[in-house]
Amino acid sequence: MACILLTGATGYIGSHTWLALQQAGFDVIGIDNFVNSSPKVLARLAQIGGLEPVLVEGDVRDAVALDRCFELGRSRFGGIQAVVHFAALKAVGESVERPLDYFENNLGGLLAVCQAMKRHGVHNLVFSSSATVYGKPDSLPITERAALRVTNPYGQTKLMGEEILRELERCDTSWHIAYLRYFNPVGAHASGLIGEDPRGIPNNLMPYVAQVAAGKRPHLNVFGNDYDTPDGTGVRDYIHVCDLAEGHVAALRYLADQQQSLTVNLGTGQGYSVLELAQAYGRASGRDIPVVFAPRRPGDIDACYADPTHAWETMGWRAARGLDDMCVDSWRWQSTNPNGFEG
Ligand code: NAD
Ligand code: UD1
Repeated sequence: MACILLTGATGYIGSHTWLALQQAGFDVIGIDNFVNSSPKVLARLAQIGGLEPVLVEGDVRDAVALDRCFELGRSRFGGIQAVVHFAALKAVGESVERPLDYFENNLGGLLAVCQAMKRHGVHNLVFSSSATVYGKPDSLPITERAALRVTNPYGQTKLMGEEILRELERCDTSWHIAYLRYFNPVGAHASGLIGEDPRGIPNNLMPYVAQVAAGKRPHLNVFGNDYDTPDGTGVRDYIHVCDLAEGHVAALRYLADQQQSLTVNLGTGQGYSVLELAQAYGRASGRDIPVVFAPRRPGDIDACYADPTHAWETMGWRAARGLDDMCVDSWRWQSTNPNGFEG
């Protein structure tokens, strides 16, 4: 049985991937400094998975903390075979205000993780990239061959992360890297015990809608209704976080079996507008989602959705859950944990 190290393991996607890996028979070790997650995630993971999570509390830029992970991997599970690197700061607006913090955390963290992997002779890496690397796409749906361009420091850290890793594997062919470009992860684990727990006012659409449904916010501000889309509101490729988590399991198997790198979109291929999502959430929750049209949000694009064919053809993965599942699972998490992990 293989052991996988997850950085940013208690975050939104990391925690769901932890469970997907356990379910698939992998051993897991996590590292997180809780800069954007709660230690209370660990008790929930134990409750769902029935195993005590093995987590090192630490910063991925700290070589000593990373060495502790690899040593734990050796003593507990016979060695770490691969790393999934989630740990990063991810708020676009904040990245414009604090670009240096984003470069330091996201790129410094990536380099430190790769150095630790090299020290311990581990060369299989899954990198959390983002559809943000496509910027405003020239055509839809977006394939992996589309031009890459970014418009903010957060996106720059993802594009530069990909470029650094591509150069690394060109110089040292023992590295095998999966570049996973996530579209818009939403939803929550079907248990309702873990989910997305944004701090403050949510930046992203579904967590905001969830709080409107819960009565915490009076209405949804729809950012723009004059986009070049069927109903004028922005269209995105929302993907259930559990499908996304299973995409990581498929990528790790691909790296182990094929011994080569791959770059894939993780999306459903189906775009939904802001209004379609709000309506679906209203159905799932049985609550009204009042909407107010507001100006466009700077930097937003009309539409963004994946061509997910390559992920299916290479690693046999495709999303199984639809928009209604995403809304029902998000609502179960929101309604049973009104204050997220804190209450
Ligand atoms: P998240 O903030 O919930 O999880 C990230 C985790 O990393 C958090 O638990 C945080 O505490 C931890 N972390 C951050 N910096 C760290 C450091 N220096 N040392 C140790 N731990 C650190 O975010 P998420 O949504 O789970 O995203 C996971 C990854 O996926 C990120 O790399 C993000 O950029 C990428 N991504 C996310 C989305 C999205 O919409 N959620 C979309 C595309 C890509
Ligand atoms: C945003 C980030 C992107 C990141 C992704 C992670 C920006 C500009 N882009 O993408 O880099 O990878 O999150 O999931 O921040 N909307 C509203 N009202 C709201 C919130 C959002 O109308 O209160 C609209 C947006 O205008 C957009 C859609 O909902 O059309 C989705 O927005 P969001 O969930 O923030 O995702 P993205 O903008 O696609």
